Amino acid sequence: MDYESDAAVSEYLLMHYGSDEERMPWSVGRMSAIDFPAVTVNYFTQKRVDLSLDLGCSVGGSSFQLSKTSKKVIGIDLSKKFIDAANAMKANGHINYKYQEDGSVYADGEATLSSGVKPEVISFAVGDVLRLPDGFKDFDRVHASNLLCRVPDPEKLLNRLSSLVKKDGELVLATPFSWLEEYTPKENWPKGDSWTWLQNQLSDDFVCLQHADETFTMREHLRKFQLGVSKVSKWRRK
Ligand SMILES: C[S@@+](CC[C@H](N)C(=O)[O-])C[C@H]1O[C@@H](n2cnc3c(N)ncnc32)[C@H](O)[C@@H]1O
Repeated sequence: MDYESDAAVSEYLLMHYGSDEERMPWSVGRMSAIDFPAVTVNYFTQKRVDLSLDLGCSVGGSSFQLSKTSKKVIGIDLSKKFIDAANAMKANGHINYKYQEDGSVYADGEATLSSGVKPEVISFAVGDVLRLPDGFKDFDRVHASNLLCRVPDPEKLLNRLSSLVKKDGELVLATPFSWLEEYTPKENWPKGDSWTWLQNQLSDDFVCLQHADETFTMREHLRKFQLGVSKVSKWRRK
């Protein structure tokens, strides 16, 4: 997927802000988590914290969820189009957009913010999670959803996490381990089972508190959907 395309912006606006009916009009698909951006954020211990970081935030759905219980949230994404959309949501509280129904037929969508979110505490910025500034540290919460298998050097990202999360802070990592050479050269894929590899990578600096398999859906058009199963894990920084 080209994360700078208008089609990607529409698909992610729908995934992050659409109504249940818009995201999944077919009852057969309703068993899956259609509000995945909120599902992963709900893994964090529900208390108020100072500073949260959303890595690979896309159009910002999870960053807005984090703002409900954070004094400050930073959302980072490589795609300027996604960050422009996230900033428009922050500034205006809504975006009107079109999403594909059937061939050249498009529906009118309106992305709106859910109640309880605090746009004023969020800063969105274009940035590369593999080149974060040294000053990025001491976060109470770091959230990285469906990002790990979209970067060229996943071990570099994992190695940076221990210096991002403060002691006793929490990390929530979601990944469908959907390795593709388009994003990650094969020599950087895990050599064996991805979940064992991930635990080995993180266990020196983090304790795994919880993990589960969560489904997510992304609508391409009325009759075509992506169904993925992400391993969602919650970790405490030692
Ligand atoms: C599969 S999407 C997931 C988006 C969102 N977190 C979610 O769960 O819906 C991957 C996101 O990571 C972003 N991304 C990929 N590589 C990145 C990098 N090196 N630095 C920052 N963001 C990156 C993409 O632009 C895209 O928004």
